[in-house]
Amino acid sequence: ALVSMRQLLDHAAENSYGLPAFNVNNLEQMRAIMEAANQVNAPVIVQASAGARKYAGAPFLRHLILAAVEEFPHIPVVMHQDHGASPDVCQRSIQLGFSSVMMDGSLMEDGKTPSSYEYNVAATRKVVEFSHACGVSVEGEIGVLGNLETGEAGEEDGVGAVGKLNHDQMLTSVEDARRFVQDTGVDALAIAIGTSHGAYKFTRPPTGEVLRIDRIKEIHAALPNTHIVMHGSSSVPQEWLKIINDNGGNIGETYGVPVEEIVEGIKHGVRKVNIDTDLRLASTGAIRQFMTENPAEFDPRKYLAKTVEAMKQICIDRYLAFGCEGQA
Ligand code: G3H
Ligand code: 13P
Ligand code: ZN
Repeated sequence: ALVSMRQLLDHAAENSYGLPAFNVNNLEQMRAIMEAANQVNAPVIVQASAGARKYAGAPFLRHLILAAVEEFPHIPVVMHQDHGASPDVCQRSIQLGFSSVMMDGSLMEDGKTPSSYEYNVAATRKVVEFSHACGVSVEGEIGVLGNLETGEAGEEDGVGAVGKLNHDQMLTSVEDARRFVQDTGVDALAIAIGTSHGAYKFTRPPTGEVLRIDRIKEIHAALPNTHIVMHGSSSVPQEWLKIINDNGGNIGETYGVPVEEIVEGIKHGVRKVNIDTDLRLASTGAIRQFMTENPAEFDPRKYLAKTVEAMKQICIDRYLAFGCEGQA
């Protein structure tokens, strides 16, 4: 059944687990996520970005998610809109049937320029008002995602600040988190603790200096009833980087957010963990490997089935690590 995000996150908080929120753009990702959830009996959050809507078209995405609900009626599914750049975008998503929206007011409508606190609160409050009026949950964001050492926001197209950021912008303070939740009434709060979108998060395995899980603990201690969201939470599996590079790819040395660090966050109030890049890497690795091994094959179903298998394994791993097994 289609459910709101608030329902799932409240359940996750009561039962001390966290939910991965996977981005979805196509049939193969949707199948991988649902088959994995079905196998371990986990609830599902799928999210569609502006890029996904541009790629697949909003009606196709909507029906892809509705098809998942139809095929797996016993699994609760949240249809979430990722990184809404304005209240208008969020309103259109609600009209399309999304049960949850993110108003990302940490950046201006261009999705590039860091905004003022006042702008963020005004936009987010507005979205909370019209969303709650129709039973839709809202995620807001305070702080700008970026690497705390380099000031780089990440290379993701369309989602992420442009230019160097300063350290304070990129590390959400306890006081800002407290004020923002009070001023907006959001159901879930995304914070900035040193992660960024895409594959190039850290140039070496992250230490506590650049990945500030301690800040999650402080925010959770101050706001025990707030559901915390971690963006940019792909782990960038080294084994998939190797498969890609062994099969003609060229991805430089890079590191993601270790699963153990996310699990530590989940012990301290993290309830939603956004993952897109890991499924992209697994999918690309699976296709490259298949193409190398089967140069005469040309039926797309053959290599796309390999992408489903690869992505499904990542989904299962995250559902198990985050404690979702049997929670559907
Ligand atoms: O939030 C970032 C996600 O990875 C979505 O990326 O805009 O390329 O679909 P995208
Ligand atoms: P990754 O790029 O780390 O997968 O993060 C995805 C994300 O935060 C989507 O909102
Ligand atoms: Zn994000």
